[in-house]
Amino acid sequence: MRIEIPREFDRLGAVRIYGLQKIYELDAGPGPEAPGSDDAIVRSLPADALYGVQREMAIVVPVRSERLKLIEGVLVGIPNSCLVIVVSNSPREPIDRFFLEQESIANFCRFTHKQVVIVHQKDPAIGAAFAAGGYPELLDDTGCVRNGKAEGMMIGTVLARMMGRRYVGFVDSDNYFPGAVNEYVREYAAGFLINGGAHTLVRISWHSKPKIVEQSLYFAKWGRSSRHCNHALNRLLSHHTGFETEIVKTGNAGEHALTLDLAMSIRYATGYAVEPFHYIDLLEQYGGVFPTEHGDMRHLIRICQIESRNPHFHENKGEDHIADMIRGSLSTVYHSRLCPPSLQQEIDAELRQSGLLKEGETLQPVHTYPSLERLDLAKFTAIAQEVVERRVGAPGSPA
Ligand code: GDD
Ligand code: MG
Repeated sequence: MRIEIPREFDRLGAVRIYGLQKIYELDAGPGPEAPGSDDAIVRSLPADALYGVQREMAIVVPVRSERLKLIEGVLVGIPNSCLVIVVSNSPREPIDRFFLEQESIANFCRFTHKQVVIVHQKDPAIGAAFAAGGYPELLDDTGCVRNGKAEGMMIGTVLARMMGRRYVGFVDSDNYFPGAVNEYVREYAAGFLINGGAHTLVRISWHSKPKIVEQSLYFAKWGRSSRHCNHALNRLLSHHTGFETEIVKTGNAGEHALTLDLAMSIRYATGYAVEPFHYIDLLEQYGGVFPTEHGDMRHLIRICQIESRNPHFHENKGEDHIADMIRGSLSTVYHSRLCPPSLQQEIDAELRQSGLLKEGETLQPVHTYPSLERLDLAKFTAIAQEVVERRVGAPGSPA
């Protein structure tokens, strides 16, 4: 892969946010560049080195009622060297969709020898494992993990840790293009190669999202939610650095990856607010604005943003869903301890103007979860191990 090196970064305390990096070649060859031919603007990353990172990576695929063909396409795109963890929250009644997913994935694994673990978000054993590990916050009244994409991601993260991986990446299961999925995973690996394996967060900014406008294809750059979300995060950052910035391009990035150490220490917000809240949490904890337990500014947190080349094409989930996502993302900024009253007023006005907040309504805070560091992994594993063994899709074994 040939990738631009970041030209700039903004820094708040220990958090460095790098500018968007462009991809120049998806495949730049197997070995290192001949000495002297690599210049300072772009870097060639050997395919072997990318594979080396992928072998230590788990890719978590959250699923809720997606079409089986789409899920299979996503699995086709994930490189064989990665461990795949599918966390499904699909209904089991009146039709057991989870059973169909398991069967289809097991069948797929027979042909590909792919290592895939599939678990259900509501599996009582997963709930029991979190309870035993001393992390009841994630559970509902019945002792099962709560609904939501973030909640599924948290299960996947802990399973990746349990299975000894060093990196964890996320890929949505409703992606129409296996080639795009393949690119995202290779870019995660590129981000870790460039930034080292310490506290790194890699986020993908889609090059474009095709839609039909006036009967022809239009390659839109920014979705509605990301436009609002990036602007609010940049305003927040500018307030604290004193310099106006547009560095954040990936506030909502569903496609992102973290070193497992970082994924276990970060806090999570429920549902779709999870991605912008990663920015907020890192800035609150490591930005040096408040005295926290993370006072050591030498331990850099690197946020690397990479612009993918494939268009992103996924299921259309409707207007209400987008409105919820905008409110959720802006709420993470609005209710942050870092948010000044002037930005709160701006966000409030923006939401009212676009009809997303009605007369008499206020922007509700999103529910957040503490860091997964407090989970006793040994106690979690003692229960969850059996679930994972039951669910590994390998040649010949029913998942
Ligand atoms: N396990 C699990 N549990 N998965 C879920 C749940 C749940 O409760 N709800 C949704 N998912 C899965 C979906 O099946 C899909 O694969 C993925 O999570 C994303 O959900 P979508 O409903 O397709 O979200 P989106 O496409 O509108 O938004 C995506 O992109 C945004 C950036 O534009 C998400 O990744 C957002 O988180 C992201 O901010
Ligand atoms: Mg989607």
